[in-house]
Amino acid sequence: MYNDNPTLEGISQELLTERQGEVFFQETSNAGQKLFYIESYGCQMNFSDSEIVASILAEVGYSPTRNLEESDLILINTCSIREKAEETVRKRLRVFDQVKNNRPGTVVGVLGCMAERLKVKLMEQEKLVDLVVGPDAYRDLPNLLATVEDGDKGINVFLSREETYADISPLRLDSNGVSAFISIMRGCDNMCSFCVVPFTRGRERSRNAFSIVAEATDLYHRGYREVTLLGQNVDSYKWENPENEQVVSFAELLEMVALIHPDLRVRFSTSHPKDITDEVLYTMAKYDNICKYIHLPVQSGNSRVLELMNRTYDRDWYMSKIRRVYEIMPECAISSDMIAGFCTETEEEHQDTLSMIEFANYSMSYMFYYSERPGTLAAKKYEDDIPLEVKKRRLQEIISLQNKVSLAHNRADIGKTFKVLIEGTSKKSIHDLKGRNSQNKMVVFPKMETYKPGDYVWVKVNEATSATLIGEIVQEQI
Ligand code: SAH
Ligand code: SF4
Ligand code: F3S
Repeated sequence: MYNDNPTLEGISQELLTERQGEVFFQETSNAGQKLFYIESYGCQMNFSDSEIVASILAEVGYSPTRNLEESDLILINTCSIREKAEETVRKRLRVFDQVKNNRPGTVVGVLGCMAERLKVKLMEQEKLVDLVVGPDAYRDLPNLLATVEDGDKGINVFLSREETYADISPLRLDSNGVSAFISIMRGCDNMCSFCVVPFTRGRERSRNAFSIVAEATDLYHRGYREVTLLGQNVDSYKWENPENEQVVSFAELLEMVALIHPDLRVRFSTSHPKDITDEVLYTMAKYDNICKYIHLPVQSGNSRVLELMNRTYDRDWYMSKIRRVYEIMPECAISSDMIAGFCTETEEEHQDTLSMIEFANYSMSYMFYYSERPGTLAAKKYEDDIPLEVKKRRLQEIISLQNKVSLAHNRADIGKTFKVLIEGTSKKSIHDLKGRNSQNKMVVFPKMETYKPGDYVWVKVNEATSATLIGEIVQEQI
């Protein structure tokens, strides 16, 4: 559903990992109003940003539509993380071109990371594009739209050191009404050598902690039962209260959100292994409603490759972090991101990534082969010297092993009972409900009349696949 790599089909669940082309939508579109259509690609932060964009556009009289053909404004919120992600966007722009031909006057805008990476070049390459807006410039959209209406092109790719959109209440589009994402910080200061994000998202900055708590509280009162705190590196969250100069750390923020209500689950993503602290782990352990799940991307299991990647930890250090997580929370699930075939990676070094999957016992992973991104440290310093077939073969080995480990991880849950937050009807059968347990595993079970999305139920697991637990509702924890 979300990946740029066809071999990855079947791996679900996406947080900070790339998703493809989902259309945001809200049922109510008022006649006479201007309509906008928005399609989002990339990580969850982009999806979250699209909700901010929707809110800004609603202020100036635009309503969302799912129908491309009837829209006055077509927006595509883009991702640059791998070459394939950009290719997909260019293909979609061809489709929008046809719509524009049939409906002259339709405005086409490119938002997000590709807008930031390519800037005015994008307008030169893609003639149909009227608007190019970077991730920190969405407040300027109404002005830019006015410029376009006057017959000019609109561009703002200014990266800010302050913008967090803290005061904007996102328009929750296409939501299940149960779980929502809250951006707690923007940008990234880490400079992993393969990664384009620091260039497309700018410097790291943390959002006002009270605005985060207010947003989560409001969601709770509107019936939401799960919030995921989002950032490229949530563990380096740090907000200084200008009134008393007190600093709120990520562990403290987690606690503040957990205290809103015991029935509001708290998740977060992504953690950087170098920054996750014992304080965070103990806070997780202290509150039942902080989910026992950490996305802790390793990228490679080999110390030399990790150094080239500029990840600032080595294999042993990462392994001790994993041990610490399981020591403090034995029931915690850990997932990862891995890159196959980074510059100069040998077969032995690739084996280290495979053995890490087994050591860490990841419940699931997002797996990619290396895609060189212009302007990154790796593109400047290292040769992209692993042949594509080798990258693909190594990736396939990683995927096969992870599937095996995920299956064993899930089979170990057979016979256990979990508290599950119901998200809705299962995609596969209208007779089944689906939801997640604390460990972020998808659980499917037969419907019972009395339960609806947003309810917690206890489910006993009877069967497992590598992606799903299958069970039945029981009265209470056994
Ligand atoms: N901030 C997160 C990751 C954001 S990008 C973190 O630090 O973990 C999501 C994932 O995409 C990364 O974890 C990495 O595995 C992958 N990725 C990033 N750049 C890539 C590239 N150039 N080629 C292949 N995969 C890449
Ligand atoms: Fe990219 Fe590294 Fe920042 Fe993650 S931590 S967004 S991989 S630079
Ligand atoms: Fe996210 Fe892709 Fe940008 S992963 S931060 S949308 S490059």
